[in-house]
Parts: sequence; structure tokens; C-alpha cells
Amino acid sequence: MPLSAADIPPEPAENDPCVAVLESAQTLALLAKRRSTKVIHFREPGPTGADLDAVLRLAARVPDHGKLGPWRFVVIEGEGRARAGEALASVSADSASAEIARNTFLRAPVCVMVISTAQPHAKIPEWEQHLSAGAVCYALLLAAHAMGHGGCWLTGWPVYDVRACAALGLASHERIAGFIHLGTPTEAPTERVRADWRERVSRF
Ligand SMILES: Cc1cc2nc3c(=O)[nH]c(=O)nc-3n(C[C@H](O)[C@H](O)[C@H](O)COP(=O)(O)O)c2cc1C
Repeated sequence: MPLSAADIPPEPAENDPCVAVLESAQTLALLAKRRSTKVIHFREPGPTGADLDAVLRLAARVPDHGKLGPWRFVVIEGEGRARAGEALASVSADSASAEIARNTFLRAPVCVMVISTAQPHAKIPEWEQHLSAGAVCYALLLAAHAMGHGGCWLTGWPVYDVRACAALGLASHERIAGFIHLGTPTEAPTERVRADWRERVSRF
């Protein structure tokens, strides 16, 4: 049974006490064993209403140089899933790819499109703003998992297609950081082959 928004501490106000550390065996277990859910393995329900808002609230608590909040969320749920798929179909190359596009958001109960709104700034490089948007995607996954929902971070051709981005409502400077599909997993995942982190560590 998923947890709900009521299980999450309220949003702290500025200067309220926070935590620099919070020893948590469960958080470590989540990080050690979490898996994405394949998009073919979602069923209802996904997070909705106040629970989905809670996931977004937690996802937005990422490191953010300059407090710019260089990202935004577009929730694609309910009938909005078909509308968003139709938007992609309208810019698809042919009828076969349009049919596939129509199905894009119907594969999971909810999709959150995370958009990087990075722009040139006097002090904060755009690269750092994009990194913050990427962190939002991962934090969103972790928050969803911790609340009891499966999730998967996908991109695909629309992310790199100017017309598709416009059809989904992006401004010309904005970029899609990810489509985070959320729902109930139909299968228990197993571990996959991973890049060997040991080979990627060096020391000065
Ligand atoms: C930016 C980004 C985009 C991704 N896009 C896709 C994608 O379009 N299709 C896909 O199968 N996996 C994609 N993945 C990989 C999945 O999200 C996921 O990481 C992978 O299936 C293994 O998941 P796990 O290690 O989280 O279990 C993407 C990952 C990232 C970070």
C-alpha cells in the first residue's frame, strides 16, 4: 500500500530547522536496490492529487545554484495522456509513427514531463542549471519509489525534435530533461548489468 502525502513532513518555511544528516537504513536500502520499472510493466494506480503533489514537492528539493529553480513540471495524467500523445502524433513523420506516438503516455498511469528551463545567466552557467533539472528527475524517481510507486525515466525522439517540443508546450529555450512515468509495477525487478563503478574511480 503506497504511503500518502500525510506521511511526509510538512514543507519547511525559510529558516525552519532542517536536517544535515538523517541516518536511515531504509534510504540506504532504497539506493542499494532500487530499479526502474519497464514501461511495459505498469498498471494502475499511479500517484494522484495530493500524493503526486508531494512527489513533485520532494523532487523540487534538489541542489540549485543561485536558487533559480531552472525547471518545471508538466503532469500528464488521465485524459491528458491521450491529448499529449495526439500532440506528438501531429508532428510524426507518417501514420505508423503517429500511431506509436499516440500510445506514448498511455503506457503508465501518470507521466511527469520534467523541463529544464535553463537560460543564460550572469553568474550561473546553463550547464549547472541543466544538471539541477537532471537531479530533479532522479529525486522524483526516489520520492515516488519511497512512497510506493514504480517509476521510469525515459526520453526518446520528442526530446530532440523541435516540433515535438513545441507541440508539448515548451518555449524555444526549454529542453525536456525526462518523461518520468509512474505507476504500479506488475513485476518484481531483478538486477541488471551495471557499469563497473570501481573502474570509474581514480584518486589524486
Ligand atoms: C536521461 C535518461 C534518459 C533515458 N531514456 C531512456 C529511454 O528513452 N528508453 C529506455 O529504455 N531507457 C532510458 N533510460 C534508462 C532508464 O531510465 C533506466 O535507467 C534503465 O532502464 C535502468 O534502470 P535502473 O537502473 O534505474 O533500474 C534513460 C535514462 C536516463 C538517465
